[in-house]
Amino acid sequence: MATDSSHPAAARTERDIGGFDLRSLPADFYEDPFPYYRALQAVSPVRELPDGSYLLTRYDEVEFVYKNPKIFSSDKKREFGGKFGASPLFEHHTTSLVFNDPPLHTRVRRLINGALTPRAIGQIQPDLESLVDRLIEAMAAKESVDLIEDFAAAIPVEVIGNLLGVPRDERSPLRNWSLAILGALEPRLTPDAATRGNAAVEEFAAYLDGLIERRRMQGGSPDADLISRLLYGEFEGQSLTRAELVQNCIFLLNAGHETTTNLIGNGLVALAQHPDQRERLLADPRLIKPAVEELLRYESPNQLGNRITTQTVVLGGVAMPAGTQITLCIGAANRDPEQFLEPDTLDIGRSPNRHLAFGSGIHQCAGVGVARLEAATAIGRFVQRFPSYTLAGAPTRGGRARFRGFLRVPARTGR
Ligand code: HEM
Repeated sequence: MATDSSHPAAARTERDIGGFDLRSLPADFYEDPFPYYRALQAVSPVRELPDGSYLLTRYDEVEFVYKNPKIFSSDKKREFGGKFGASPLFEHHTTSLVFNDPPLHTRVRRLINGALTPRAIGQIQPDLESLVDRLIEAMAAKESVDLIEDFAAAIPVEVIGNLLGVPRDERSPLRNWSLAILGALEPRLTPDAATRGNAAVEEFAAYLDGLIERRRMQGGSPDADLISRLLYGEFEGQSLTRAELVQNCIFLLNAGHETTTNLIGNGLVALAQHPDQRERLLADPRLIKPAVEELLRYESPNQLGNRITTQTVVLGGVAMPAGTQITLCIGAANRDPEQFLEPDTLDIGRSPNRHLAFGSGIHQCAGVGVARLEAATAIGRFVQRFPSYTLAGAPTRGGRARFRGFLRVPARTGR
């Protein structure tokens, strides 16, 4: 199995990427990783890292890996065994569908797909619109706002909470649990991040166990919400075990959370920094759909993915044995000049735009419909209501390589 290693239009590198290591990234990488990505694409698109794993930065190889799940496994038991040891984080991550291959993956995925139909997603729209409008009016009453705290982070938790049927007054700890669990997936795991991640899994699992028990006692329709569907649903006569149910609900709550917050936050910052594109959107609000796709490409909320080879394979001319760990750089693939014309230009009408922000293949994000609807509603309504909003000082980055977003974005709405 091989892919082409030539890359004729590779950009010239200006930056020395010698010693590049995902586990020890230079400080300026978090602010702007794109010069590093471009240099890697040009110099070594299939890059061996100091720990013997490989980093892929070109679109073609990243897509190839996503499309061949038999050669590139998602099963992380071996890798996470070393990283997390026997711990709640290990149990959580190795039980969730995203880090499994068929058949566990298929079983959970079918049940989730059945609950996230276009009809089910359409039903969340009225609540979503009124939530977004409430947040917008609350911001209109303030002198200065934080686009993350006051807006972007307040939306996904409600949407995913509604989908799963988590009572409104029980949602406040969800965001911190989610941040702690996903934070432990960073390429370098600090002892502090491990402690917080493990505590978060334990608390989250205990909470969900109680919620599932309440749901079971109440009976009710299997179609009532996502938890009920996973609780009562079967695929080929098999239902989920309690641990599978709890851990996959945690995963769903996390998957729909930080990523969508980052999409909305990154999107509003990018539009503030590109007033010409904001004007285009204001002049033609129908551009919101391609605009969301472009924002997903330009500042991909999820920058890195992982796979492990199940057999010997040649990628971009580089041979690797079975058992090799691979990091797929979505953020780089989405700026690959071989795939996208002027990849560093934000063009909200870009077409075609076959970005990989949601991955691809059997594990492609199950929440694409939800994420797109949330982002289009939030960004579209915000820009129409506050057409001349401005950033008030430099936004604060989240400081993560895998999940790209902001912690704080001070802004003035210009109302
Ligand atoms: C902008 C927002 C989002 C982004 C960028 C995003 C990105 C991704 C990516 C890249 C994957 C593939 C992981 C892999 O193959 O290794 C994925 C998987 C997944 N996402 Fe999302 N996601 C977003 C929002 C959501 C939402 C809102 C939900 C739920 C409602 C969700 C649920 C899932 C699930 C269940 C999977 C696992 C799919 C599988 O393994 O078959 N995501 N997401």
